[in-house]
Amino acid sequence: MDVNSVVSSVLESKKYRDLSEDLVRNVTVTLSYKYSDKELLDKTKAKLRQIWGAYYSSRPDFKKLFGKFLGKKIELADIVKIHSSTKERALDCEKVLSFVTENTEVSRRVLDIGCGLNPILMMITSLQFDDYICFDIDTSQQHFLNEIFKSEGKTNMKAIVCDALMYDFPRAELAILFKLLPVLNQIDSKKCDEFLNKLEVNYLVVSFPNRSLSGKEKGMRENYKIYVEKVSKCGYALIANREFSNETVYIFKKQNRAM
Ligand SMILES: C[S@@+](CC[C@H](N)C(=O)[O-])C[C@H]1O[C@@H](n2cnc3c(N)ncnc32)[C@H](O)[C@@H]1O
Repeated sequence: MDVNSVVSSVLESKKYRDLSEDLVRNVTVTLSYKYSDKELLDKTKAKLRQIWGAYYSSRPDFKKLFGKFLGKKIELADIVKIHSSTKERALDCEKVLSFVTENTEVSRRVLDIGCGLNPILMMITSLQFDDYICFDIDTSQQHFLNEIFKSEGKTNMKAIVCDALMYDFPRAELAILFKLLPVLNQIDSKKCDEFLNKLEVNYLVVSFPNRSLSGKEKGMRENYKIYVEKVSKCGYALIANREFSNETVYIFKKQNRAM
């Protein structure tokens, strides 16, 4: 199958139809340099599982979930447990977010890139921003987040669908990249560097899981040094880092740049 046929086939399938077309095309084109037409569809699906599908233990029906939320049958604190990354952060989230506010001058625009359900955690903690924009490749999830923001009167919060590797982000004071860099690197390490270089922010908050999805700790921390170097090379200085129960958070400040 050629690239166009693979992209159409993936987007027509029930499992992957919620994904951003830009992302599916980007992944397929990148893999097409490495694999034959015969292998391309399977390799593309495997990559999509790795960077997106693996984080929901079972795929939520977001329409039904929103109905349950409106009917007061599920609370925000339980919704975050559906995504493995927010489930892991839920335990420590006030501590993680206090660590971020203590080390940054956050107030105005914040970008949360590769957000998953983290925006919901932001809503249920005491942290407030004037303008909070969150980005992910999952169209149903982002629509669901916008519905939740609307129903809770959060006019300062907005969810957008995009492939971070191909998007021009607006300027902001802070960008949150919780557990995102290893995922972007799995798609294309060169484009991951370009993404970091293009961001126009004063502070970057980057985190990594302390264990892999299968629970392994071995080699995880050593691996993250590579990303710390990557971010530093893009003109950011590491100003703080702390290990929490399930993730390690690094805060970087852009050097010589005024907003
Ligand atoms: C490990 S999860 C982290 C979720 C969230 N940041 C958190 O820590 O709670 C990675 C997230 O990145 C999203 N993602 C993967 N590739 C992306 C891309 N190219 N652009 C934007 N988001 C992406 C996935 O859909 C998933 O929600």
